[in-house]
Amino acid sequence: MRSPGAGMAEPSGIDVVGIGPGDPRYLTVRGRELIAAADCVAGFRSVLTVVAEHIRGEQLVLDYRTQADGLRTLAQRAAAGMRCVLCAHGDPSFPGSELLALARQTCGPLRLVPGVSSVQIACARAGLAMEDTLFITLHKRADLAGDREELRAAALAGRRHLIVLPRPWDVMPAALARDLVHAGVPSDRAAIVYERLTLEGEAEWRYRLGDLAQETQGFSDLSIVVIPRPGYTLR
Ligand SMILES: C[S@@+](CC[C@H](N)C(=O)[O-])C[C@H]1O[C@@H](n2cnc3c(N)ncnc32)[C@H](O)[C@@H]1O
Repeated sequence: MRSPGAGMAEPSGIDVVGIGPGDPRYLTVRGRELIAAADCVAGFRSVLTVVAEHIRGEQLVLDYRTQADGLRTLAQRAAAGMRCVLCAHGDPSFPGSELLALARQTCGPLRLVPGVSSVQIACARAGLAMEDTLFITLHKRADLAGDREELRAAALAGRRHLIVLPRPWDVMPAALARDLVHAGVPSDRAAIVYERLTLEGEAEWRYRLGDLAQETQGFSDLSIVVIPRPGYTLR
């Protein structure tokens, strides 16, 4: 049960701050305040670089190999009363990442501070309303069979726009399109690939699903696939 005013309490543990999709101008005011006030700020190097100018305290750089140790250190700092922030790319809940799961396991309950997700930017670029979309991430280490099945079923049903995070580098946009065409989704369905949203080199590529399936050009690891529902006129 939530008690009155609980949402207003001062942070006592670790704040997970979503730092936005890459362009530092998308960092929220709340995120900036927490980062500037923190005694210790942890995150992957690519994420810390975006907010570097606001960090005053100690920096704890994580990488895939050492992230468990880094998070344990962060938990010790928080237990010692230091204000601690874990920075996450975009918004920490889009998707609820493996980093977040590991951080909860290592550090206990976390307070999430929303940021602007790359998924929201994709919605804005395509002019899609979130309630009309289904968001599926393939960007995870787990087996993707269930997610791919759900994606095929949703594409065949055609009731919602689909927003899909590919998995670098084995399930990239072309592979994803091939899978859908193979499952019987009409090859003339529209598909858009957004690359490097808000960053230098941002690009929007519009296809028919059949053409995307044949595409041989590589895409950035920062890519999102949008498949509007049939008959939808893009902005
Ligand atoms: C582990 S997910 C993290 C997403 C992040 N939490 C968010 O809210 O944007 C990483 C994937 O998000 C997508 N992504 C993140 N930033 C992006 C950007 N600036 N442009 C396009 N796609 C992006 C890509 O699909 C990338 O592989």
